[in-house]
Amino acid sequence: MPDAFPDRDCPRCPRLVVFREESRVNWPDWHNAPVDSFGSLDAAVLIVGLAPGLRGANRTSRPFTGDYAGQLLYPTLLKFGLATGDYAEDPNDGLSLVNCRVTNAVRCVPPQNKPIGAEINACRDYLIAEIDSMANLRVILALGTVSHASILRSAGLRQKDWKFGHGAFHELPNGLILANSYHCSRYNTNTGRLTEAMFHDVFAGIVNHVRA
Ligand code: URA
Repeated sequence: MPDAFPDRDCPRCPRLVVFREESRVNWPDWHNAPVDSFGSLDAAVLIVGLAPGLRGANRTSRPFTGDYAGQLLYPTLLKFGLATGDYAEDPNDGLSLVNCRVTNAVRCVPPQNKPIGAEINACRDYLIAEIDSMANLRVILALGTVSHASILRSAGLRQKDWKFGHGAFHELPNGLILANSYHCSRYNTNTGRLTEAMFHDVFAGIVNHVRA
């Protein structure tokens, strides 16, 4: 099992290494490396996104920071008491997470925001190490089906036994709750697949579980 966080020059995914090297040439001031999780390992809630956005986390170094998805995620965390401060799309904005941590199923930015299966599999060790390091973890929120599937596999469970459904709260055999939401991506919100109210309902459920 590796450390909970990949090396800056993690070699596991050849396609992502090439993309990272190109990004380092094109945008030398950007982060252009695996993106570490945000929030304390002591948290009860772990939110698992897909992968860093090119001009979001890959630029700023903080998950969901500076991209469209963060404009829904972070105000929602503030609304439900899972964050304090202000979200200003900048890792130095002073935002702190409260009892909550944010990570991604794949730590490096993929071309077109789409990691391939081998990359999701190669990065799973880091997700497993992350989950294992969270002693107070109660609820994992999967943003989208890719993250849902990777979390299940990290727990040795099969997708056919734990079907993804927006708003579902699965009680896993290891005692954790696996919550599901459609990903808060621009595509899902622009098409109306995910509304702000639907997203808020999922967080209301999470907060209830954590307080219970
Ligand atoms: N930014 C992230 O860090 N993760 C996502 O899944 C989407 C945008």
